[in-house]
Amino acid sequence: MTQEVPQGVDPHIPNTARMYDYFLGGKNNFPADRELAELVLSAMPEVRDGTRENRLLIGRVVRYLCEQGVTQFLDLGSGLPAAENVHEVALRYAPQARVVYVDSDPVVAAHGRALLAGPEQVAMLHGDVRRPREVLDSPEVRGLLDFGRPVAVLMMFLLHLIPDTDHPQDFVAAYRDALAPGSYLALSHVGTDHAPERVARVSQFYRRANAPFCPRPGKEIAAFFGDFELIPPGLATGKGPELGFPFTDPESPPFYDDDFARMGYAGIGRKP
Ligand SMILES: C[S@@+](CC[C@H](N)C(=O)[O-])C[C@H]1O[C@@H](n2cnc3c(N)ncnc32)[C@H](O)[C@@H]1O
Repeated sequence: MTQEVPQGVDPHIPNTARMYDYFLGGKNNFPADRELAELVLSAMPEVRDGTRENRLLIGRVVRYLCEQGVTQFLDLGSGLPAAENVHEVALRYAPQARVVYVDSDPVVAAHGRALLAGPEQVAMLHGDVRRPREVLDSPEVRGLLDFGRPVAVLMMFLLHLIPDTDHPQDFVAAYRDALAPGSYLALSHVGTDHAPERVARVSQFYRRANAPFCPRPGKEIAAFFGDFELIPPGLATGKGPELGFPFTDPESPPFYDDDFARMGYAGIGRKP
């Protein structure tokens, strides 16, 4: 980031949104973000590939949802603009698509608004996903999304930044409840079932950041879907063609080994 600091931003506290941007090779980060990100990478160098793979997954998930006829997207914890943002993919496969991005980070919101200046089909809300009523009743969401029709809610690499003390199961349920039948919830989340010690080491580093890193057992990640029907193969982890589209790209398998791949979980659920 060319060292202009937006109001309300402390560049000295490592920030999870900007660290993620650094992992992706972006420029919207400060020295404190890069320093902690490098420490994380020293413990787990595959994190860089894992974040890129998550972005590729987002593109495949959005494409899949467009192919199911979904044209409305609510991207919670959307992050700094990167390659293949949700609206870019959605508009490619569904030109009438509408996308609302939500992020609590002021830097993300400012960049999001700058990027989106123009399209009337896309909005950026500076809001906190832990307050679903505020998000769902916001002019940005109400102005673009019709909850009488299917909406896809995305929570990609978001919920592992929210501790249990913030009751993520409750607020995720509030978003599920607000959706019409035929709507979708898609999420990706780091899990603890595989290599728990390595994952715990990363959590230790994040104690210095603005938000904790809270990976969860697969069972708890699956519970975020409530009574939604999981699209085969269900809550996916690992890699390999057996997972199927949209979880793996048949053209190019993930760059890292299966050991690392099994730390990541992703799933898409459909509201009956
Ligand atoms: C790791 S990034 C993921 C970005 C994007 N979803 C992706 O998968 O590429 C997580 C984002 O969630 C945002 N976030 C964390 N807690 C949040 C909250 N309570 N409300 C809204 N956004 C939040 C962070 O600011 C960050 O931009």
